[in-house]
Amino acid sequence: MDPILLTPGPLTTSADTRSAMLVDWGSWDGAFNALTASVCGDLLAIVNAQRDHACVPLQGSGTFSVEAALGTLVPRNGKVLVPDNGSYCKRIVRIMGYLGREVVVLPHGEQEPADPARIEAALTADAAITHVAQVHCETGTGILNPLPEIAAIVEKHGRGLIIDAMSSYGAIPIDARTLRFDALIAASGKCLEGVPGMGFVIARRAALEGSGGNSCSLAMDLLDQWQYMQKTGQWRFTPPTHVLAALRTAIDQYQAQGGQAARLARYSENCAALVSGMRALGFETFLPDALQAPIIVTFHSPPDPAYNFSDFYRRVRDRGFILYPGKLTAVDTFRVGCIGAIGPDTLKKAVTAIADVLGDMGVRRVARG
Ligand SMILES: Cc1ncc(COP(=O)(O)O)c(C=O)c1O
Repeated sequence: MDPILLTPGPLTTSADTRSAMLVDWGSWDGAFNALTASVCGDLLAIVNAQRDHACVPLQGSGTFSVEAALGTLVPRNGKVLVPDNGSYCKRIVRIMGYLGREVVVLPHGEQEPADPARIEAALTADAAITHVAQVHCETGTGILNPLPEIAAIVEKHGRGLIIDAMSSYGAIPIDARTLRFDALIAASGKCLEGVPGMGFVIARRAALEGSGGNSCSLAMDLLDQWQYMQKTGQWRFTPPTHVLAALRTAIDQYQAQGGQAARLARYSENCAALVSGMRALGFETFLPDALQAPIIVTFHSPPDPAYNFSDFYRRVRDRGFILYPGKLTAVDTFRVGCIGAIGPDTLKKAVTAIADVLGDMGVRRVARG
């Protein structure tokens, strides 16, 4: 049997989604152009962004779209504030360095949600800041940042907001009618449960239209990609045809299952089953429940000398489940994803597999205290 991916993308997809990739599409063909248009229309509708926004799909993993959004929407003399509480925030800071754009980092602890009051103070103190780049769910730990509060402050101060919603889009509510942003970025292989290979940026149309000359890269210029698509209905360069076909099917299932509310409900059940099962084994979560998004959970590694992650990982994989290493430097952790075409029963089976593996490894001390 194929292993279950308890990783936040690539993740476990449904058989229908995988089957949708058994067709070859011509990239110039009208049928493929219609597929692109229908997917983009639905990606806008999922966040109620039909009126003032445009959806620009882009080849590549999620980071390509994050970099393209920053490089296209932030002017060359712009300055970006990055509230930093984890590894994907730090990746934005690195991207800004490559783009040669000015950046101000607002350091936070990894167990501390981005603080709207500190963001407001930073914007008040520095009128040169043009944009805030905010990660919604920081997948490095699983923490959920208070996006609506932050968006309100950024809007009040008349700055642009660029949101990395990679691991939240489609599951955590985001409403473009009430939340103002210049760009909202996500990808095919996350909470929509498609396969990896394309990202997309929901851009505020006025911001996109005003971004001419910002991008230092042809391939990553979202304005050029969008204008070409508007004119021709086609992607500028070779599109990820099979990925798009799989995403179309994945969105059909998303809608049939009840959309964002249903997805959030299933992921919340998955997360609850995982956390309660792991706590019963003695595991401790890195985050308190109040800060935990139901997307990915970071657990402290057992302190028992018989434990090491690579052996643990291999043994759990042999029982059919793929775990994820931790991303923290200061504490030893590992992560388990709650997203993908799986339900709480699967998470319960994963916990049973983990319990068996701990027994096989002779790990007795699981809790740190
Ligand atoms: C918050 C966040 N940002 C960006 C990314 C993009 O990563 P990648 O380029 O590996 O798809 C991810 C992937 O998991 C993510 O969780």
